Amino acid sequence: MNRVYFIGAGPGDPDFLTLKGARLLAGCDAVFAPPPFELTFAEHLQGKGVLVPFDYYFDELVEKIRNFLVAGNVAFLVPGDLTFYAPFQALIDLFGEQAVVVPGVGTANVASALLKKTLDLPGVCNRAIIASPRTLGDGSDAPTIGQLAAPGVTLLIYMNNIPLPQLVTQLHQGYGKSVPIAICHRLCLPGEEVVQGTLDDIVAKVGERDFFNLNSASRRPALTLVLVGETLTATVDGAWWDYRREHIWKFRDGEAE
Ligand SMILES: C[S@@+](CC[C@H](N)C(=O)[O-])C[C@H]1O[C@@H](n2cnc3c(N)ncnc32)[C@H](O)[C@@H]1O
Repeated sequence: MNRVYFIGAGPGDPDFLTLKGARLLAGCDAVFAPPPFELTFAEHLQGKGVLVPFDYYFDELVEKIRNFLVAGNVAFLVPGDLTFYAPFQALIDLFGEQAVVVPGVGTANVASALLKKTLDLPGVCNRAIIASPRTLGDGSDAPTIGQLAAPGVTLLIYMNNIPLPQLVTQLHQGYGKSVPIAICHRLCLPGEEVVQGTLDDIVAKVGERDFFNLNSASRRPALTLVLVGETLTATVDGAWWDYRREHIWKFRDGEAE
């Protein structure tokens, strides 16, 4: 049975494609690649039929996939991977056993590596919350980003569409003080920019730059991830390491190695 592979493709640079993803991609003649993956993955796509999935309504897309499946395997390059904010669930449900999902490197992973920070740093942050103002809902009871912000929370805001000054006001209210914030734009892509600051100075640091595509006619979310919380600048000493060694990792008498 030929398969439809939903391959976690990472942030955009093929260096972050997993070995498994690369192997499966090589075995597919037809590839659906959302922009800008059709450009950044050009080397991996040579000789293949490459289509942009958003050029089609759902039924047209399904028909195309079915036609390709007669001849061979089909791949979708999934930005980041399927875990958060991926639009392909309906296809995966429809193709059932024929659909195979391959994990990849999510944007959150890339941002954490770039900032060199664990996002749930013990003693500093007790939870990380992933959210997007685009999907919180419009109803009067829908939570706001400001309500998700609180001391001890690391917030990862995907697909932000709130102008930065308003976003910062909401965050300030939630945290009750100024905390670190990082705006990560086009990670691992041409035009990558990362601006780090605090809720007090980030608006001035960003200046006129339109990191969220709010001044453009395009409705597509910008490739910008916002991270907020004390974790971003916190440092820790070795006390937690020793605590864990003493209470968790150390082999106890009678325990098999
Ligand atoms: C439809 S979601 C895709 C998320 C993806 N499934 C993941 O796991 O990273 C698109 C949003 O992810 C974030 N994003 C995706 N690629 C990015 C990149 N290269 N740099 C910064 N943010 C990115 C942005 O917040 C963007 O608006």
